[in-house]
Amino acid sequence: MEPLKVALLGSGSVGTQVARLLTTHAQELAQRVGAPLELVGIAVRRLDVDRGPGIDPALLTTDASELVKRADLVVELIGGIEPARTLILDALAAGASVVTGNKALLAEHGPELYEAADRGGVELYYEAAVAGAIPLLRPIRESLAGDRVRRVLGIVNGTTNFVLDKMDTAGLDLAEAVSQAQELGYAEADPTADVEGFDAAAKAAILASLAFHTRVHADDVHREGITTVTAGDVASAKAIGAVVKLLAICERTVAADGSEGVSVRVHPAMVPVAHPLANVRGAFNAVFVEAEAAGELMFYGQGAGGLPTASAVLGDLVSAARNRVGGSRGPGESTYAQLPLRPMGEVVTRYHISLEVADRPGVLATVAKVIAEHGVSIETVRQQQSPAAAPDATDDDRASLVVVTHSATDAALEATVSALAGLESVTAVVGVMRVEGED
Ligand code: HSE
Repeated sequence: MEPLKVALLGSGSVGTQVARLLTTHAQELAQRVGAPLELVGIAVRRLDVDRGPGIDPALLTTDASELVKRADLVVELIGGIEPARTLILDALAAGASVVTGNKALLAEHGPELYEAADRGGVELYYEAAVAGAIPLLRPIRESLAGDRVRRVLGIVNGTTNFVLDKMDTAGLDLAEAVSQAQELGYAEADPTADVEGFDAAAKAAILASLAFHTRVHADDVHREGITTVTAGDVASAKAIGAVVKLLAICERTVAADGSEGVSVRVHPAMVPVAHPLANVRGAFNAVFVEAEAAGELMFYGQGAGGLPTASAVLGDLVSAARNRVGGSRGPGESTYAQLPLRPMGEVVTRYHISLEVADRPGVLATVAKVIAEHGVSIETVRQQQSPAAAPDATDDDRASLVVVTHSATDAALEATVSALAGLESVTAVVGVMRVEGED
């Protein structure tokens, strides 16, 4: 067989490993594909950077536009929107199949890329875009194609999981834990995409699109990052036997009239220690997929890193190459269901509310009354006198009151917190966090 020409765009930590594996595993890959994979060029921004022994300097070029036009398969690992978007569109139009790990681009422009792949009669694969090495998108798109996915729930950002884990296990505050993540190379110098939840939201949009056969854009995702998580929140979680995790949750919802919708959200939440997600430590990722027939499935592994992510890229590359050799095409975009996106207010969740209140008769009853008036049911309530309070407490002394609710809509829970904050006897709303993973 004629070799298939592979163009690599980007030579960062993942690109370097892809180039290396294409060389060291060349024979095995050729056998699996049915034709050799020949790396014909690596597009980089600068030629004067030493890229180590795995990269043949003769393959480097700064002309990415020219490179994509002479390839059968293009691997895009530049990241960001431009020039990645234009290069991918050009590659697809020129008849090359594309493998990318670019979650931001897919969550923003997925439909445009799919349409270009259809027009070119070629393929678009992106397993590396979500949860690094973990085979997750292919199982959802292909293995569960005969089932109905109800829910996808998981930890899809390793950097924030590392940070929250350090806050939990080493007692660091957020800034200290982020610094440590930067020192170890998990977090970027500008950690915004990770800590503000943009990275996880893009991944959630991709997961929801595949799981529910519905186009979900990054802007459709309710997003809260971890920047507001305090050492106090982490301690409060511990006190109720939970840990704080940044979760991505994609759910199929059913309204009272039976109509279906989709909700997609990313936010920190307290997860009970008995839940398997609570034990996902360091920079690892884990995702639960709940499907009607299959039940609950769990996917776990390394969600980032050059070599693990290169594994996902190579897997896609072999699939695309194999289909090309066999003259077939894998599944394209599936959006037939096009379920409506439901707002965050309709999502059913639970709240952990930590209040500082005046320690005097009737305060607990007032707080309970406000919660009941909003149709919210209390699961547990814990009160303790603030440590600073003197033994001969007066009306001016404070107590800490922690309420964990049963399930209610997010709108009802938010309204409850606002009403509590307005009570004269509530001196501070110390922390509010959703609780996920059981009821
Ligand atoms: N920055 C991401 C993470 C890895 O920390 O999980 C790439 O998506």
